[in-house]
Amino acid sequence: METITLNNNLECPLIGIGTFMLSPAEAENSVREALKMGYSLVDTANAYVNERACGRGMRQIGIRREDVFLSTKLWPSEYENPNAVEETLERLGVDYVDLLYIHQPAGNWLAGYRQLEKAYREGKAKSIGISNFEGKYIAELETKWEIAPQFMQAEAHPYFTQSELRKTLDKYGIRLMSWYPLGHGDKALLQEPVFAELGKKYGKTPAQVILRWHTQMGFVVIPGSKNVDHIRDNLDILDFTLTDAEMAQIAKLDKGERYYHRTDAQLVQFAAWRPQFERA
Ligand SMILES: NC(=O)c1ccc[n+]([C@@H]2O[C@H](COP(=O)([O-])OP(=O)(O)OC[C@H]3O[C@@H](n4cnc5c(N)ncnc54)[C@H](OP(=O)(O)O)[C@@H]3O)[C@@H](O)[C@H]2O)c1
Repeated sequence: METITLNNNLECPLIGIGTFMLSPAEAENSVREALKMGYSLVDTANAYVNERACGRGMRQIGIRREDVFLSTKLWPSEYENPNAVEETLERLGVDYVDLLYIHQPAGNWLAGYRQLEKAYREGKAKSIGISNFEGKYIAELETKWEIAPQFMQAEAHPYFTQSELRKTLDKYGIRLMSWYPLGHGDKALLQEPVFAELGKKYGKTPAQVILRWHTQMGFVVIPGSKNVDHIRDNLDILDFTLTDAEMAQIAKLDKGERYYHRTDAQLVQFAAWRPQFERA
């Protein structure tokens, strides 16, 4: 698996399996099958309520801990829980994660970020990240972090390429990990003629062309899937290279439009919501 080097010199795989909206049984299955196929990056979160299942999927194939880059996220209602990191590690069944995010700029997010920094210093998180911290949130955090993050996880796809945000990220060498890389499966995106045309040229599906575009943009991708054929396809994208002209053709799709519009009222709800974690 190709890797990228983060701003703290850690290596991170370019492609991973996402587990948003996967039930525990689905997440366990997708993680196990993905790792069997050669994936080495798994993305979950407190809020997905499938961390135990992801840990089970990892253990079922007996993969060595150091061969998996495990990413998870603290949910805002955990930011002031002094045991949030330990409890997250316990659910996953590991003694460190490779990447630990704060999931949303909600509630006492600075307390959440301080927990990440502490976990990083203690070796419980090999890298740290912020998720959905675009605009004023990263601007404020920039003035307060003691350790700069390695990743920002944010919505990104050919319709919305995060061109503004990337200017800030580039200043610090923070890498973008795209969520909704396939537009959450949006047919309009997958059926854009340019992806069918390039897919025909390279013998790939439209989804594979889109994922290759992400990696050539320098983004790490974590497509979510419970379909083993899709999981296999999504890994098989590094044996072709889109030309500069083809990347420029895809750039024309950028409408600067997100799928997901978060409101301030939602941030308040996020801070109040407590995930009902899976039982041990
Ligand atoms: N930080 C955040 O706030 C945040 C928010 C959203 C997501 N995320 C992370 O980002 C990951 C990716 O986002 P996502 O899963 O919501 O959306 P996505 O990866 O853009 O799309 C997933 C959808 O695309 C379909 N799909 C996957 N591979 C395909 C393929 N090769 N061909 C056709 N369809 C395909 C899946 O269906 P099948 O199951 O049938 O394959 C699923 O319906 C998440 O799983 C999660 O880890 C983070």
